[in-house]
Amino acid sequence: MYINCRVCGGNVQEFVDLGRQTMANGFLRPEDVEREYFFRLAVGMCELCTMVQLLEEVPQHLRYHDAYRYHASGSESHRKHFAQNARRFMESELTGPDPFIVEIGCNDGVMLSTIAQAGVRHLGVEPAGNVAELAKAKGVQVLSEFFDLATATEIRAEHGRADVIFGANTICHIADIESLLLGVDVLLGPDGVFVFEEPYLGTIVGRTAFDQIYDEHIFYFTVRSVQAMADRFGLELVDVERIPLHGGEIRYTLARPSKRTPTPAVGDLLAAERTRGLAEPETFERFGHDVERVRGDLVTLLREIRAEGRRVVGYGAPGKCTTVTNYCEIGPDLVPFICDSTPSKQGHLVSGSHIPVRPPEAFAHDYPDFALLFAWNHAEEIMTKEKAFRDAGGKWILYVPDVHII
Ligand code: TMP
Ligand code: ZN
Repeated sequence: MYINCRVCGGNVQEFVDLGRQTMANGFLRPEDVEREYFFRLAVGMCELCTMVQLLEEVPQHLRYHDAYRYHASGSESHRKHFAQNARRFMESELTGPDPFIVEIGCNDGVMLSTIAQAGVRHLGVEPAGNVAELAKAKGVQVLSEFFDLATATEIRAEHGRADVIFGANTICHIADIESLLLGVDVLLGPDGVFVFEEPYLGTIVGRTAFDQIYDEHIFYFTVRSVQAMADRFGLELVDVERIPLHGGEIRYTLARPSKRTPTPAVGDLLAAERTRGLAEPETFERFGHDVERVRGDLVTLLREIRAEGRRVVGYGAPGKCTTVTNYCEIGPDLVPFICDSTPSKQGHLVSGSHIPVRPPEAFAHDYPDFALLFAWNHAEEIMTKEKAFRDAGGKWILYVPDVHII
């Protein structure tokens, strides 16, 4: 099957199919099981601009609403990273008279709260009303809208142009990327920068991190595809930086053409992508086989543990766990519950697989033999916090980059 590329209109050829899936952050109450939304989770690459993207999508209003369960402040590493981001902007881009920063999808204000505390002019654009309220409670100015051309035009009329437009784990979520980029063009000041940090296809393929593939991630960026997208919309990719969040992301900096000299990192990463064959069909074929192997190994291990009468509990219920449990058909029979520190997920079920989410106390109260670490990108923070589990003889199961026990 193919579709037309959302960026350039070229043919998008499918390379992996993760089957019938639901919404990754669609944690539901037991009484709402009947009303689940399903779609086919398949990914392909555009033959022209190399943008990797979903073939089918869940409508935006079903993904972001007043009961959105992803809280960006949910881990220490995120809180630190985004506070540092804010300080960096204030020391570099926001030093002129009355600077202005706009964040696309500010979530619970994890980044903008630092900017707000410093008294710098800012605006968060956040369609999910519940997380927008959390940001407002931290003193952040929020507009509860989707960011698109119309919203950007409105913001410019009211506040003027922005020195920085920022997005973290949001730009790859927006299917109408054309409207978003036209909006950036309207809103960005002549010397401004558009900075975004998103999951990296190189990490997903390199580590077989197929759990990063879910309904909210419409696009899977590479330096090459982002550069092509920037060119197409009259912007220039001037810097790239690897960052450790969500297992390995890239921070892209776009500016108006010829305003800034691209850093050597852009050329270096482009060359590395070419060497790795990150736009070659064979690379994705191999990825598809690797994904199947991980599924086979994980299910076999969980069945063996069950057959031996030992217990497994899931640890961390990020959106990623929805893809893994549904693709591998792991239900409460293999993993009776998953513990997670996010209050709004607790008491709910993982969508599709219907594994209950419980508070971390449920884990500590009666340690299982194994903990299946779905929040593997926070392994260090979690394993340090849960040292007593290992001291009591517990073991961690990880499935990235392959299934292993530690
Ligand atoms: P994230 O990587 O997308 O932020 O998701 C991490 C999930 O793991 C989130 O639902 C919070 C949860 N979590 C815990 O339950 N305990 C922890 O110690 C950490 C760091 C995260
Ligand atoms: Zn394309």
